[in-house]
Amino acid sequence: MEYRVIGLSDLTVSVVGLGCNNLGRPDTASFEQKGANEVVNAAIEAGVTFFDTADIYGAEYGLSESRLGAAIAGKRDRVIIATKFGHAQFPSPIDGRKGSRDYIRAAVEGSLRRLNTDYIDLYQQHTPDDDTPIEQTIEALDELVREGKVRAIGNSNFSAEQLTEADDAAARLGASAFVSAQNEYNLLARDVELEVLPAVAAARMGFLPFFPLANGLFTGKFTRTERPAESRIARIRPHVAENAPWSAMDAYRAFGEARGISMVTATFGWLLSRQSMTSVIAGATKPEQITQNASAGSGWRPTPAEAQEIEEFFPLVQRRD
Ligand SMILES: NC(=O)c1ccc[n+]([C@@H]2O[C@H](COP(=O)([O-])OP(=O)(O)OC[C@H]3O[C@@H](n4cnc5c(N)ncnc54)[C@H](OP(=O)(O)O)[C@@H]3O)[C@@H](O)[C@H]2O)c1
Repeated sequence: MEYRVIGLSDLTVSVVGLGCNNLGRPDTASFEQKGANEVVNAAIEAGVTFFDTADIYGAEYGLSESRLGAAIAGKRDRVIIATKFGHAQFPSPIDGRKGSRDYIRAAVEGSLRRLNTDYIDLYQQHTPDDDTPIEQTIEALDELVREGKVRAIGNSNFSAEQLTEADDAAARLGASAFVSAQNEYNLLARDVELEVLPAVAAARMGFLPFFPLANGLFTGKFTRTERPAESRIARIRPHVAENAPWSAMDAYRAFGEARGISMVTATFGWLLSRQSMTSVIAGATKPEQITQNASAGSGWRPTPAEAQEIEEFFPLVQRRD
């Protein structure tokens, strides 16, 4: 396993992380604690040290954090935990504007309790809060860092402009700055290359790509005709496979076969060779998936020509929000 430092923080994490939005997810093997433990233990055994969750993940608010907290009991010193607060579109038991000081102080206490820890390594604002000045959010987060409840702070789903504004505000206030950005990034969703990744690099943040496997499409287990029934895509996101560019997918599969590498290996390798990438936080519903992903991310990296070839299969298409 390779390890990298997140931005300007002192957090060193495995380049393959575990996205934990499957812990406590209904209709998966990782819904119950036993299944969640199996995935987390397999990750740790494979050298994974980075676990990314959020207060809203799981069948009910807080469930993924509780599952993760129980799974790492007795192993806290071996893992780096990232969680999130304040997603604008999800209900929360806490009242108030989600970027406000009061909201953040209440949210962090809940996350600490559920994660069964007295500190969070990376505390991320899940989405921007347009109704709260970023200065207030930064100052509230800085307070948590100074109190030792949080080691570093990050953002998620910010635009390039919002990232830069937050970074400038932290500098002006002499407060802790965001060390990471987390946005969707995969071969079918490359928009961040236009503005977000240059802003991330300018602010010397680390980048954590979410949906790195496009919900599992880039694991190689789907074809034009095959959709394994127990997968998330078959169960709740059939459009991902229905709308996939199958000619490009076939060419990409052939690219891997010609080099003796799986589609998962090519996908992790491509992501990890891009600028600012710190850890690829793919999710897993079964222990064998994270074992495979850990080994996929630990080896092959494309040459510049190979990366270009991959990108030509899946040209950058700017999506509308
Ligand atoms: N910040 C945000 O707004 C935001 C939004 C979404 C996600 N995230 C974060 O990003 C993480 C990753 O996203 P994600 O898990 O939703 O999507 P993903 O990483 O693109 O896809 C993961 C899914 O692919 C399948 N899979 C993974 N490895 C596999 C393997 N080796 N073989 C076969 N199947 C495999 C599993 O689903 P099945 O077994 O069901 O097929 C797994 O749940 C999340 O856990 C979360 O931490 C953040």
